[in-house]
Amino acid sequence: MPDAIAETLTHAAPGHPFDPLTPDEIRRASAAVRAAHDLGPGMMFETVSLHEPDKSVVKDFRAGASFPREAFVCAFDRTNGQVWEARVDLLADKVVDWRHVPGVRPRILFDDITLVGEVARADPRFREALARRGITDIENVQVDPWSAGNYGLPDEEGRRLSHTFCWYRSEKNDNGYAHPIEGLCAVVDLDRAEVLRVDDYGVADVPRLDRNYAARYRSVFRDDVKPLEIVQPAGPSFVVEGNEVRWQKWRFRVGFNAREGLVLHAIGYEDDGRLRSVLHRAALSEMVVPYGHPGGGHFRKNAFDVGEYGIGVLANSLTLGCDCLGAIRYFDAWLADSKGDPYCIESAVCLHEEDFGILWKHTDLFTGEVDVRRARRLVVSSISTIGNYEYGSFWYFHQDGSIHFEMKATGIMNTAGLRPGEAPDYGTIVSPGVYAHYHQHVFNMRLDVAVDGERNRVVEVDTVALPMGADNPYGNAFTTRATVLATEQGAQRNVDFNAARFWKIESAEARNGLGQPTAYKLLPLSPIPTFSHPQSMVTRRAAFMTRQLWVTAYHPEELYAAGRYPNQSSGGDGLPAWTESDRPLVDTDVVVWHSFGLHHIPRPEDFPVQPVITAGFALHPTGFFTENPALDVPPSASRMSCCVD
Ligand code: CU
Repeated sequence: MPDAIAETLTHAAPGHPFDPLTPDEIRRASAAVRAAHDLGPGMMFETVSLHEPDKSVVKDFRAGASFPREAFVCAFDRTNGQVWEARVDLLADKVVDWRHVPGVRPRILFDDITLVGEVARADPRFREALARRGITDIENVQVDPWSAGNYGLPDEEGRRLSHTFCWYRSEKNDNGYAHPIEGLCAVVDLDRAEVLRVDDYGVADVPRLDRNYAARYRSVFRDDVKPLEIVQPAGPSFVVEGNEVRWQKWRFRVGFNAREGLVLHAIGYEDDGRLRSVLHRAALSEMVVPYGHPGGGHFRKNAFDVGEYGIGVLANSLTLGCDCLGAIRYFDAWLADSKGDPYCIESAVCLHEEDFGILWKHTDLFTGEVDVRRARRLVVSSISTIGNYEYGSFWYFHQDGSIHFEMKATGIMNTAGLRPGEAPDYGTIVSPGVYAHYHQHVFNMRLDVAVDGERNRVVEVDTVALPMGADNPYGNAFTTRATVLATEQGAQRNVDFNAARFWKIESAEARNGLGQPTAYKLLPLSPIPTFSHPQSMVTRRAAFMTRQLWVTAYHPEELYAAGRYPNQSSGGDGLPAWTESDRPLVDTDVVVWHSFGLHHIPRPEDFPVQPVITAGFALHPTGFFTENPALDVPPSASRMSCCVD
């Protein structure tokens, strides 16, 4: 097998109900909608993606058999702001559902990103504000298209907007974030392609010190980095068939869409010839980045990068040797542009194996005999560039049955200009006159769990210290207390450091060889508290961030923690709305939503480009097996020379 195969999996006809739409299907879905419900010259396609099939379709699916195939389409009319949703039967090329969705805004499209800068730079009010700051070379002004949020301003009502911040580039490739143009925000109407308003919060000097990080600006590099080659002479240990991945005992399917980016389906573990389900579907449902500065236009900074932009749309084409090392299998992603036409992000998803240190080891104290196994993990990853930041979604599958998710955040921190004499109360100075505001990155992962079947329950496990007394004379006793999370209202939980809390997802029926319910444990590795006021607009719109755990009864339309249309939303959608009816959760099909994040008090070392910082969680088998499932991992070939006298 060659080192890398860039595989265009979705060119062919779909082979499985979970396969993302093929380019042909994207084209046919848009054409069917246009034919039946043409919105005219202002028609834009927000989304053309797979309408995922009912679980029964997947359960009954046999390779080679036919299966229903539907597309979800969201289109809108730029001339009146109306948003429409369609479902298209792709076997009949027919729109089977068409409905107007009142009072919502589609997300910011790829087209809007360039439009915002062009519109702002052409506006006389924006140019005047720049001139007041001594900037007349308009072409060097970088305008970032932030989402606008919803602050109840009457002139913004009913419009699809971007609220911008701007920077100055001393030349084309210069790092503009070293030169914030402080206090200047244009509010751009995306559908009318005009500046609605220029908010000028007062002139400040533009910091001029260049802070470039790119290789093109650097002539001196450390000279002691020797080659490190990853060699897999017999090829990697995974097998990819269509979108299905098989590695060690793991089985899953790779999916991808514009909004969530990487989606994993049907994650299962082959145990003694039997495929046992763990997760039906796993995807990043939403994220939000609230910033802590109350002034200027900065109070509006809280991007919902999944729902307002789409981390799939903004995915990178990954490159061998740079993003990924070793024997790589890439997956291309086919998405729809605003006209509903298909386009490809080549190598959007990377699959490879990594050495992961030791898997387990013991030296017999009395005989000196050593037994050690090396661990390797399978990595499925995708990296998205969202304005100044990069987000890398990394799923890791381990040989001991555990799964680990890691979000890698890198790129350039968002910056602001510090006025002379101003104390950086809400940020850290990272360059003379430049500071980076305190902020958080809060992610929400939707885990449609299926531990040994669809019927699961979620149990909160606390560890408690017992009081000293007759039963605990030496004060050393501690034990666990398990509480079944019975309904949705009572299943909105936070971590408790003092209780070393974790949550277990148990099968309703299956028992291991010791008679225990088979289960996976959700280990919250990156819980963060929120600092936004409960009544703030950002907390109302991103209520998911106030709890590390939410559990809901499965519903196929409940996919996104802040609702399907978070852009400029007024809040309340998604998890808070769905859980109002307090549905029962015991021994039924449940969905676990985990919020986790990065509390980012910036460091000078995070600038001018930020080394990767990470947040994530782990899923550990907890009674899913009866013993260490990795006893059968063979000793490495070089064991005789490295491990034994
Ligand atoms: Cu950050």
